Amino acid sequence: MKPAVRAITTIAPTALRSSTRLASFRGIDGLLTTYHRSTFALAHQYRQSHQHTMASTGAVDVNLIEAAKKAACQQAVKDNFSTDFKYVGIGSGSTIAYVVEAIKALGPEASAHMKFVPTGAGSTKLIRDAGLTVLQVPELLDEVGYESRGASKQYLDIYFDGADEVDAELNCIKGGGACLFQEKVVSRLSKKFICVADTRKKVDRLLSNWAYVPVEVSPIAAELVRRELIDLGSKDPVIRIAPSTTTYLITDNHNYLIDAPFPTLLLNSQPELIDPAKGVWTPNALTAKIRRILGVLEVGIFSGLTGPQAAKAGPEAEGVKPVKIYFGRTDGGFETQE
Ligand code: 5RP
Repeated sequence: MKPAVRAITTIAPTALRSSTRLASFRGIDGLLTTYHRSTFALAHQYRQSHQHTMASTGAVDVNLIEAAKKAACQQAVKDNFSTDFKYVGIGSGSTIAYVVEAIKALGPEASAHMKFVPTGAGSTKLIRDAGLTVLQVPELLDEVGYESRGASKQYLDIYFDGADEVDAELNCIKGGGACLFQEKVVSRLSKKFICVADTRKKVDRLLSNWAYVPVEVSPIAAELVRRELIDLGSKDPVIRIAPSTTTYLITDNHNYLIDAPFPTLLLNSQPELIDPAKGVWTPNALTAKIRRILGVLEVGIFSGLTGPQAAKAGPEAEGVKPVKIYFGRTDGGFETQE
């Protein structure tokens, strides 16, 4: 029997990621349309070519997922945003739109004096549409001026962003929305990264549900990198195709992306289990290996030190891992991990 029309849409698990993104952009930000379509194409591509895909159980209610994202973002802003801030990093994706919404809801007196540093074209428009002031990274660096060797480079007071998957040690995979390089730059320039997600993204180890590690590469070296990724144990890495086309996606930095499936990653606390022959790596080890390949700009694994740990370790240290994750639940509640 045909089911009665429902106010809330129920979607099949394999379509979860794409449909959720489409729903969220309608509610919040027009520009994210492209982003979400891109993800839809990707999700479709991966459903076709990989067994190992996002979301493996049960049907999911799109509106409840949006409620979960919103709950995570509202709490993250409530707990971490301060009117004392000067520079705030805003990441990319559908979840982050709720962070901007929550900051905007605090009124101009809370944020009119602040500048918001985006991680791509989508977040630039998101910030601007909310009536907040955009400051791109090059202008930020002009504004803060030259500081001599040895000075801290953590100019942003905070950086909010989503993730594609988060493990038990807070290591993340990012880049599903093609912005990983600018996300890494902004994260590294921030005192701390607060991650917002819904509980579908929470796993014990990376690549449990999410299928691949996004890698941003120089177009001319893309095929070379793809082959080297196979040597590291990636099964069938693909150069990402732009939505609704048959041409390669070009990132905001004019590069290609390679989406590289690997076996489920270890935790960084399990280095003794690394097995290069089987492509089994910790997040830190895989990031280091991929970064060494000629033509790679950045890897969509955010692991290693957090901002505060990097500040202690010295100005050469890189801090890109979140200090805390807010996972929204479909019951409108949230949980945190730090
Ligand atoms: C973009 C990203 C996003 O933060 C990540 O893809 C999460 O997106 P969403 O909030 O739409 O699930 O890394 O490069």
